[in-house]
Order: sequence, then structure tokens, then C-alpha cells
Amino acid sequence: ALDPWRLLDLARAAATQAARLAVERRPADLGVAETKSSPTDVVTEMDTAAESLIRELILGQRPDDAFLGEEGGAESGRSAVRWVIDPIDGTVNYLYDLPHWAVSVGVEVDGITVAGVVAAPRLGELYTAVRGAGAWCNDEKLRVRPTTELGSALIATGFGYRAERRRRQGAIAGALLPRVRDIRRAGSAALDLCAVAAGRVDGYYERGTHHWDRCAGALIATEAGAIVGGFEGAPASEQMALAAPPGTFEALHEALRELGADAVDY
Ligand code: IPD
Repeated sequence: ALDPWRLLDLARAAATQAARLAVERRPADLGVAETKSSPTDVVTEMDTAAESLIRELILGQRPDDAFLGEEGGAESGRSAVRWVIDPIDGTVNYLYDLPHWAVSVGVEVDGITVAGVVAAPRLGELYTAVRGAGAWCNDEKLRVRPTTELGSALIATGFGYRAERRRRQGAIAGALLPRVRDIRRAGSAALDLCAVAAGRVDGYYERGTHHWDRCAGALIATEAGAIVGGFEGAPASEQMALAAPPGTFEALHEALRELGADAVDY
């Protein structure tokens, strides 16, 4: 049988090694100077190198498994296991050497996430979770904040890359702003989900995330007591990913619907 703890061990080893590579090989002048190629190319190169390292390490031990990565795309396998990878989540932070970025590795068995790792080496934080067993940051067990009224909730969110989507996302965030304590845009969806898990924010929502941004972080948030989902009981998807403790979740969901965040055309 598949032991989720052993899958977690492999996910942790892969995420940690990829994180070390991304720290050690980041050119010091990446955010400022003219590098040989453009800064975004360097980031893409680093993303690709980190993802290849993860792929090789995991497939070296489990050659039959399937893979979904931000850079390399989907690869099918013959086992029930699929690895879902974002080699660097928070690439803009990485580019500027803001420490808030992470390597995200989620492990699914028959389509259900059973283990997840979010490694944030420049924060000194390694988030882990096993389905049904809990979530941790380093050795500390994670628990969401108690339910709060929306008016005193600190809400994390993020914005996509396309101009039209950003315009609408900005308008929605602007309309939400007077109804909450404050809004944070920290720049990594995976770490936003971990922040919900750690009780560092009261909730998170975002339109336009991909499965690899969310896979590990969603399990970490769920195992810490959050509800993670989309609108109207749907699973979290590209349309909407919401994460918050029970009660806070419903209040945020309601407010976002009132503000038209569930519209299909953005
Ligand atoms: C992005 C980050 C960001 C979120 C974007 C994502 P990337 O991932 O998670 O916080 O707002 O939606 O695409 O591009 O850095 O891997």
C-alpha cells in the first residue's frame, strides 16, 4: 500500500533540494543589472532547472508516477500517484530578491492530495501536511485563527498577469477593502494558503491560480482547519480559490459574490 508519510519524505527531499538550488544559483544582480539574458529568462531558467531536479529525483525513485509541473507540463504515468509541482511560486519576489517565494510539491493518489510540502528557504520555513494527520511549519503544528467577522479580518489575495483580469481584480479588491481590516498581496499563492494555515491571515481568495500553485498549500490549509473551495461548494479552481476558517469562509464567500467576483468574464 502507499504510505503517505513516505511520499511526504520524498516530497520534502525534492522541495528542499530544489529550494537550495534556487537560493544558491540566483545571480546576485538579478533584479537590477543587465544580465546576459533578460532577468525573466534567468528566472525561467531557474524555474526549469528546479523543476527538472524535482522530476529526476522523484522519477528516479518512482518511475511509474505521473507529473504535473508549471514548466514541463503534464506527463502521464502508470501508477495511481501524481506529483504536482510549482518550482518557484512567487517568481516576481524571487526576481527582486524579496524572500517571500517557495517551492511547492503536492502528491495525489487517485486524484486526492495526500501529502504536500511548501518550502520557503529564504524565510527558513518548511510547511508540510499529510491528509488526515495535520499540518506543520518546521516542527510546529499549525492551526487556523478563530472565526472572525469580516470587518476585522485580514485578507490575503493575489492578481493574475493579464491586464483585463488585473483591472477587475483591482476593482473587486478596492470594493472589499473598506469591508475588511486590511488586504495583503504577498506574491505567492502557495504561501498565502500556508499563511491561512498558520493563522497569519484570516482568509485568502484569488481568481486565476493554477493547480500547481494550490495543490500542496490547499492540503496544508485544510489540515490546519481551513475550508478551501470555490464558489457555491465547488472545489477550488482557476475561477476561484478561497481559503479561510469556517464562518470566515462563508462571510468572505458572500462578500465576494456581492462584489461580482464570481462573474465568468474576467
Ligand atoms: C503566482 C503567484 C502569485 C499569484 C499568481 C501566481 P508564480 O505564481 O502565486 O502570488 O497571485 O496568480 O501565478 O507565477 O510566481 O509561480
